[in-house]
Amino acid sequence: MPIKKSIVVFCGSLREHSFNGAIARSLAELAPEDMTFTVLDGLESIPHYDADIQASGFPAKVLEIADAIKNAQGVAFVTPEYNYSIPGVLKNAIDWLSRVSPAPFAEKPVVIQTASAGILGGVRAQYHLRQILVFLDAYPMNKPEVMVGSVQSKISADGKLTDEATRDFISNQLAAFSKFIDKMS
Ligand code: FNR
Repeated sequence: MPIKKSIVVFCGSLREHSFNGAIARSLAELAPEDMTFTVLDGLESIPHYDADIQASGFPAKVLEIADAIKNAQGVAFVTPEYNYSIPGVLKNAIDWLSRVSPAPFAEKPVVIQTASAGILGGVRAQYHLRQILVFLDAYPMNKPEVMVGSVQSKISADGKLTDEATRDFISNQLAAFSKFIDKMS
């Protein structure tokens, strides 16, 4: 039995019927057997980044996520594009986590899926996120890239990723990510 690789999943959308949330929840069934996934909740409970709050102590949720990343073999970001960039809730969580020492994202393998209602599938957000990951010193996997366009036509009413081509793209990407983690460790 191969060793399990645990992956912490950030979803950039808070809404209950989020298409990105549906993709985030589908990762486990699409991944190789040696991977497990924990989708983070409670990102909305993290206050806006404020150095004065930091000075009196990090929010408990930030420390909890930092610890989860530290103990994981990889991180996944599944996010919509908001105004050609990443949603504020995701940026805020990253900003807080970037102040934690030791740096939780440093040298951590990262895989990204973006999904949007537009035909480009959130590609501009994905490249903004990749830019941020440079500062965090994370190791985002370059390829295969996954951008899911017209996502509303690929998720069923009960929140399942039903589009076969998209399922295959994500399966291939996660298989590559498992090997990428092996290479990076
Ligand atoms: C969007 N949407 C969007 N889509 C896109 O392709 N490029 C964009 O820049 C934006 N910008 C944007 C801003 C804001 C504030 C919202 C609320 C939406 C549309 C977006 O892709 C769509 O609402 C997705 O369904 C959002 O993902 P979830 O919530 O379904 O995961």
